[in-house]
Amino acid sequence: MIEPTSYRSHRGLPTLAGLATITEASRPGLGVEACVARLKRYHYAFVRLHEILTARITAEPIYELKTGFSLHSYLCAEHVQALRTRVGEMREPPLGLEAVPAEPLAIFFDEVLAAPTTGELLVALYEKAIPALDAALARHMADTNPLADAPSVRICRFARLELGDMLAFGTKSIACLVDTPTRAAMQPWLALLDDCLAAVGGLDGTAGPSDKIIERWHSAKPYVYDRVPRRDERWQDLYNQGVNAESFIYKEEYAAKPKTLMMLYKRLREIDVPEMMASIIFETRGKPWGYYRDMSRQLWDEARHAMMGEVGFVALGVDWTQARITHNWSLRLNTECTPLERHAVLYFIEQGLMTRTGKRYEWELGAESGIPLIQTIQDYDWADEVLHAQLGREWYIPQVGNWKEALDYGDKCWSRVLSNWETVKAQGLTQHENWWPGIYLQACRNWGETPDPKVLEFTETYQGQRADLKSVMTSA
Ligand SMILES: [Fe+2]
Ligand SMILES: [Fe+2]
Repeated sequence: MIEPTSYRSHRGLPTLAGLATITEASRPGLGVEACVARLKRYHYAFVRLHEILTARITAEPIYELKTGFSLHSYLCAEHVQALRTRVGEMREPPLGLEAVPAEPLAIFFDEVLAAPTTGELLVALYEKAIPALDAALARHMADTNPLADAPSVRICRFARLELGDMLAFGTKSIACLVDTPTRAAMQPWLALLDDCLAAVGGLDGTAGPSDKIIERWHSAKPYVYDRVPRRDERWQDLYNQGVNAESFIYKEEYAAKPKTLMMLYKRLREIDVPEMMASIIFETRGKPWGYYRDMSRQLWDEARHAMMGEVGFVALGVDWTQARITHNWSLRLNTECTPLERHAVLYFIEQGLMTRTGKRYEWELGAESGIPLIQTIQDYDWADEVLHAQLGREWYIPQVGNWKEALDYGDKCWSRVLSNWETVKAQGLTQHENWWPGIYLQACRNWGETPDPKVLEFTETYQGQRADLKSVMTSA
């Protein structure tokens, strides 16, 4: 008989494909049923986190949080997908995945969703929900058999890697935004969140459930999604449509270099796409998970495009807050169109980006400008747009009909949103101030170049123009 402790691998090679020692793999660990019960709770947590992070993008004014939530909601969507796949491999039809594992757990996430302030939202997400999920995944890895359940362990490890990044972002953000008195004031509510988790035996249900009675607080009234986009104080004059960036970019008489500034402006203006897509994702229910994953990927890409614009401006030494970055597009689509109409408009615009004057042209301008960073930005922006056109084919077109019908529908929806150039001016919301010279002069100073008077004189606005790609004010 071989003593387990005297067992040796061949020439001391790592055992079990490097997953674990024989001793570690000799512990029975979790059975399939117990394992699936836990996986379903992680899945539920990631679904709810995805929902919450998506819901809070549009009306969150702080740009760094808006973009952070965009990334984190996408990461959660990916982990949901991985967990669904894993549960489906465990003699379990993935059907049971839509069920709520336990009511107090639902209340926990309902409360986070309904957090009345950014500070409460941050603390609830990054000090309560995500640490609880991360701890559950760590426990899974410790409790399960590392060999028998290796595919689940792999999913837990990958998820923890990204949860760790999310926690680092959240912790730093809280340190910047939440002071001691604010935190003290939220203690009773944070205690409710703890009670919710205790009532279900912890997020993974491994502890004995407490018999605490849970009473809803912020979620006592049903949550209402706020579809009005908001921006922080760096984003001024939100209705300004005073500089027609596309018109400038397409005019042959101007050099590529000043055109890069308009492209960076267009990139940064794309922050309106996450604001708008979040509303589609949140308000469209009952789709296969692939829909939410893909839409969240696109939402994140658009947030990334905006940040590429930010990086470009900073790299060129330009203070982008001197430009006027409107929220007109996301505001109007979110408040005047249905989710499907918004999707139709998005697809219609993105189809326009696939033409000769679209993303390829912008990339060529980047190359021609002699600024390598701009070329990189446009290269990836173009690649992402090709992906988005594919995602539109997969998820949007089948909802409407064939390609032609889907495109016509987008055109029709968008033409219904009439130009508000005169209206917002008459209402005193903006004077459509021409911000272009301020941006161009900054760049010239940093380039050590004399401004081109013709470029400086550019004064075309969006007045009288439908905001689509023909006469153009394109986002996405
Ligand atoms: Fe984009
Ligand atoms: Fe896009």
